[in-house]
Amino acid sequence: MTGGREPRVVAHRGASAAKAEHTLAAYELALQEGADGLECDVRLTRDGHLVCIHDRTVDRTSTGSGMVSEMTLAQLEELDYGTPGEPARLLTLRQLIELTLDWTSRPVKLFVETKHPVRYGGLVEAKLLAELARFRLATPASADFSRVVVMSFSAAAVWRVRRSAPLLPTVLLGETSRYLGGSAATTVGATAIGPSIFTLRQHPELVDKAAAAGRATYCWTVDDPADVDLCRDLGVGWVATNHPGRTKLLLGAS
Ligand code: G3P
Ligand code: CA
Repeated sequence: MTGGREPRVVAHRGASAAKAEHTLAAYELALQEGADGLECDVRLTRDGHLVCIHDRTVDRTSTGSGMVSEMTLAQLEELDYGTPGEPARLLTLRQLIELTLDWTSRPVKLFVETKHPVRYGGLVEAKLLAELARFRLATPASADFSRVVVMSFSAAAVWRVRRSAPLLPTVLLGETSRYLGGSAATTVGATAIGPSIFTLRQHPELVDKAAAAGRATYCWTVDDPADVDLCRDLGVGWVATNHPGRTKLLLGAS
């Protein structure tokens, strides 16, 4: 078991249990509830903009339908991403960066997960790094001081980020203990591993193994209070949750 500070809380797609995911309202609520970090998924539009959307299509999360990669930013902005009675606009990565940096009452980190990295062969990472550079976020003084963490299930994507921006912290996400406990994270230079809570329940030794290699653990998606306790006891560094406010309260009370 790894002692030390309690896990920091990352709002998964914003406070997405209470508000429509990846919307301004979801992220604003997460900040108000005390989240230490904000998680978002990014995809490229047809005309090369990075937008905060999880799925390949807009069907589940908006009033429209179609592939994100086949629609322009202007087309995507015409849709409603909210809920009945609470409409919401599309959020671009740029807008989410601005929201994060504008929140000055405490340091909050932005955890950006690149989706479809294989299909674009590096274009998503290049666009992301260019966007971060625009805000002087691509070259932090150290990983600890970075306001942004880049995450991917693709080891190639993590490697590309490390090669272009060596001080930017990265999380290699994965589904299995064999993968995350193997050599992949070391090979690509990831600063943290990212198991799901299902993997961590079965393989709690992953946390100490990562720590022994100088790596933190980021666990997703930790919504059950018993899992919050487990992550705290194991010494997990970051827990991603759809309930940031409740999770902060649980950790504060324990
Ligand atoms: O935070 C990592 C987690 O979000 C990965 O799964 O499908 O929710 O993007 P997914
Ligand atoms: Ca994600």
